[in-house]
Parts: sequence; C-alpha cells; structure tokens
Amino acid sequence: LIMLKRTNTCGDLRGANVGESVVICGWVKSYRDHGNLVFIDLRDRYGLVQLVFNPETQPEIHKTARDLRCEWVIAAKGTVSKRTEGMENPKMATGEIEVVVEELEILNTAKTPPFEIDTAESVNEELRLTHRYIDLRRSEMQDKLRVRHKVAKIVRDYFDENGFWEIETPMLGKSTPEGARDYLVPARLYQGSFYALPQSPQLFKQILMVSGMDKYFQIVRCFRDEDPRADRQAEFTQIDVEMSFVDCEDVMSVNEKLIARVFKEILDVDVKLPVARITYKDSVDNYGIDRPDLRFDMKLKNISDIVKDCDFKVFTSTVEKGGVVKGLCAEGGAKFSRSDIEKGLTKYVAEYGAKGLAWIKVDGGELKSSIAKFFSDEQKAKLMEIFGAKDGDLILLVADKESTVNKALAALRVKLGKDLELYDGDAREFVWVVDFPMLEWNEEANRYDSLHHPFTAPVAEDLDKLESDPGNINSQAYDLVVNGSEIGGGSIRIHDPATQAKVFDLLNISKEQAADRFGFFLKALEYGAPPHGGIAFGLDRLVMLLTNTDNIRDVIAFPKTQRGQCLLTEAPSPVDQAQLNELNIRTQKHSHDPS
Ligand code: AMO
Ligand code: AMP
Repeated sequence: LIMLKRTNTCGDLRGANVGESVVICGWVKSYRDHGNLVFIDLRDRYGLVQLVFNPETQPEIHKTARDLRCEWVIAAKGTVSKRTEGMENPKMATGEIEVVVEELEILNTAKTPPFEIDTAESVNEELRLTHRYIDLRRSEMQDKLRVRHKVAKIVRDYFDENGFWEIETPMLGKSTPEGARDYLVPARLYQGSFYALPQSPQLFKQILMVSGMDKYFQIVRCFRDEDPRADRQAEFTQIDVEMSFVDCEDVMSVNEKLIARVFKEILDVDVKLPVARITYKDSVDNYGIDRPDLRFDMKLKNISDIVKDCDFKVFTSTVEKGGVVKGLCAEGGAKFSRSDIEKGLTKYVAEYGAKGLAWIKVDGGELKSSIAKFFSDEQKAKLMEIFGAKDGDLILLVADKESTVNKALAALRVKLGKDLELYDGDAREFVWVVDFPMLEWNEEANRYDSLHHPFTAPVAEDLDKLESDPGNINSQAYDLVVNGSEIGGGSIRIHDPATQAKVFDLLNISKEQAADRFGFFLKALEYGAPPHGGIAFGLDRLVMLLTNTDNIRDVIAFPKTQRGQCLLTEAPSPVDQAQLNELNIRTQKHSHDPS
C-alpha cells in the first residue's frame, strides 16, 4: 500500500486551483450523506475543505466514504472543482471549490469524541482538559497558540536587534525571593536537601549583570506554589529582562517599545508611546488599587470631610476612628432595584471585607436613599458635586479603614464597569504605575514587607530615610498595567552590598538568614556589580490580552486546573516506593486529593 503524500492543506485551495490534482490530509469534521453524493468537511490546522464522493464515477470509494465518522484521519486524492452554482460558501476560505475524490486512504479511525468539537465552548472545562488533544483541534484554541508562538518570535527578534542575549538560567536552584511558596525537588545525592524550582530568575539575571552580560532576556518558566486563579497559574512563563548602566526611563522605554511592537504585529493596534504614567498614590486614591483599569472613568472620591458631621452614625464613627468614607458614582446605576443592590453589590463588596454598602439614587435632581435623611441639604449638594452626579446615577459608599474601603470599591468599580458596559470591548488602556513605596507594613507579622522584592532600589533622594523613616521611602519600581491587569513589573536594583544588607534588616531578615538564603548573591555584589535594573512580563497574561480571553488556561497548551492538577496526565500522582526509597523520603499518605 502506498501512502498518499500530502500536496496541499485543507486551508489553501481557491478558485485558481480548479482542475489541479491534489492530495489533502486531515480530520473528518462533518459528514453529510445525500443519498447519491457524500460530502465531507475535512479539517486541519490550516482550515476546512469540502470533499465530494460520487457513486457513479467512484462506486468503491463512495462506499468506503459512507463508513467515515467524525475525527477519523484520512488522505484523499482528487481534482479541485468549482462548486455547483449556488452551492458556494462565502464564509469558508475554500468555499468556492470542492475536491472530487478519486482515491481515499483511511489513516486512522477514532472513537466518538467525548464532546462535539464545534460546541466545545459550552462544554465543561474539565472534560476539555482531560481530552486536551481534542480540545486543541478547535481553531479558536489553535489560534491562541499561534499568537503565543508569534509573540515569542517577536520578543526574540526585538531583543536580538537591540543587543540582548537570551541566556538560560537553572530550573533546579536555591529557594528564590518572590515571596510565594516554592516547589521543592528532593536531591538524591544530598538526602534531606532540596532544590527549589525558580519563582523567577531574579538573582541569576542580576548575577549575569555582575558578569558583564550587559543586556539579558529570557523567555522562561517560573513556578510559584499558589492557588491558581483566572489569571494565575502555578507554572507560568515570563519574558524576563535585565540591563546594566540604566535608569527607570531606559528600562521603561525599551520595554514599552517591545509591547507596542507586539500589539502592532499581532493586532495591528498602535500603542501610543510613551505610555502614560500614574503614581502609585494617585492610582490607589482614585481607583483603590495599584493596577487601575483606565478603560472607564468612575473615580473613587473621598467624602470623609463632607460626611464627618452628618447624622449617619456608621459614617461619623468611622471617620472619628481614623477610617475613611469613599464612594463612586455609577453612571446609569439608578436602574438597579433594591434587591439588585443588596443581593448583587452589597454581597459582592462583603467578599472584599466591606461591612456594608450605602447607596443613593439620583432622581429628578434629588437624592433618594434610606440614608438621605441623615444629610443636610448642603451636604447633599456637596455629594452631588464631588461625584458629578446626574439623574439616573447611583452613588455607592463604603466606610471602613482605608485599605478595606479601597479594596472593596476597587473590586466594585471593575464589576460595575463591566456590568454597565462602560467601555468598548476592544479598548486597551496601557499605563505605567510608578513611585511605589519600597515597603509596606504587614500588620499581622508586625514588620515591613517589600512591595516588589527585596532587591528593589530606593530612589536616591530617600536613601537617608532607610534608618529614620523607612515607611516613606519610594522605590525605583514600575509596573505595566493594561485594562486593570498587571502584565509586567520591574525595578532598578540595589547594587551596593551595604544598602542591600540594610534593606534585609528592615525586612526582619537576620544576617544569618540573609547569609544562608542570599549569601552567594551578596558575595557577588561585592565583586564589581554595575548599576542595573530590569523587568519581567507575564507572557501568559500578554497572550490573554491579545486573544481577548479572561481564562489563563486558554493560552496554555497543557494547563493545570484551579486545584493544581493536570487532568490529561493526572499529575500530581503517587510514585513508586522504590523511587521514594532512593530519595530517602517517607510519606504519610498517598492521595490524588490535594486537600
Ligand atoms: P513579578 O512577580 O511581578 O516580578 O512577575 C512579573 C510578571 O509575571 C506575571 N505573573 C504571573 N502570571 C501568571 N501566573 C502567575 N502566578 C504569575 N505571577 C506573576 C505578571 C507579573 O507582572 N523578578 C520580578 C521581575 C523583576 O523585578 O524584574 C518578578 O518576577 O504579569
Ligand atoms: P443599617 O443602618 O445597618 O441598616 O445600614 C444602612 C445602610 O448603610 C445599608 O445600606 C448598609 O449597607 C449601609 N452600611 C452599613 N455599614 C456600612 C459601612 N461600613 N459602609 C457603608 N455603608 C454601610
């Protein structure tokens, strides 16, 4: 038996090919038996093409064709023919033609798929992940992986043109400092010791700068043992960058040009350069969060001063205790019923810690609300003014300590923006968030934490606050935010070992701990570390934006579930006792269940 050799793909035949003899291979997408003629739509990565089997001219092949089923793999040799007048399909790239089959080879049969490929969108995701090979036959999924490939290619070309080298760093390493839980790998040759999978190549890329590599990048897998979310996987990919002898502006400039190139080449969208900037303080004050969604306005307003003397106890006592009252004005929100507000919105903000959600509807120039009676006319007028409220709007207010208010209102703002359709689905608003504080007070642990990581440099003007006023030090850090999603973040680093030691001290990392965890790195800083800085982008998040999906699993060929499982391979799984013995590991339970 001679295997038919493919000459064309299912996507590339057009009217101009009429008359040619071709061989195409692919999967049977659909099958229509019209009694005399059998029609098959054949699918591959490149597209779809219609095959026709004619019982009069090819009785044997027509008979075989009647046995074909969905997802069988076939090769067909035939002649490209113009479709009968009126039978053209303008929605199909190959819709002008069909292939009249003269030879047919069944390359493989297939079991009936567990779900219909064309309706996979509505199928339970677990089923899709269990049979990922079938899910990935869908053109939507293939398109996402194509975009991902293209982005990687653009990134490599761009950095190569700009003098960067891609340098690999170890996967088996020492516990790293991004602040998440490590994945540990037992070391067979050093029983009781473990490698950690990298949370990022942070220390290695800095050491590469000490080595004089000057400009480094890497498309690199990172591992953080956290619970996965819609935009978070435990195993994800960064575009990691580091440069020597640079300041913040240099790093932002090189990298925003990269992002602009990616959006231009993939979507033909022009990202306006330079990308706008917002300070951390303005972002938190106006949007409640350090990753603002700027596709719509709806800024938060602090009304503590307006309501501190009103008659609503909840507000006055909050202000007295040092808390704040802030709110937002949802354009067109007055259409929500009381139960929409209480069941939909109050419950929603409660998940973010808000103890309540006061609401005021604007109707006929008046404020309508159960709490309106607590405000004087002057206070009401001031409220209308600060929110720029007009008829049909809904003012929503939260009183609590500032961090809780911001957290709740930030989430509420994003939800309302989406529910009220306050922005165009294709809009993309880029912004650099800058002037971050270096440290953030951790109430539970009663110490400072790094807002980024412990290697982030303070701004030069604040160096003298390291001892006197550490809470008010700004860092040389920057995050790139698009539509409320943090797609990248980085900083200028500390290159002076004495400053680095001071920062460890502020973070309550003792000399011994620092020596134990980062000693190798501190030592490297002592051997001629140049000033340096960099950034890392989340490649998965970037591809999510480019392909308009809010599910990170859609842009990863073989992702993990929310419970950290690979349903295709059933990882994680128990291992043989012999493997454990070799590692000198004893486990207390064997279970597929991570709980
Ligand atoms: P950071 O921790 O901010 O910085 O990570 C950089 C970017 O990586 C993406 N990202 C993730 N994407 C998917 N799933 C996750 N679990 C996940 N965690 C992070 C985000 C984020 O902006 N070493 C520093 C960078 C530097 O300072 O140069 C770092 O890793 O898009
Ligand atoms: P109550 O007097 O508890 O019935 O509350 C009246 C309104 O104030 C309700 O709409 C509550 O949701 C709201 N409310 C209660 N506590 C707060 C708070 N901390 N911040 C904002 N609104 C609140």
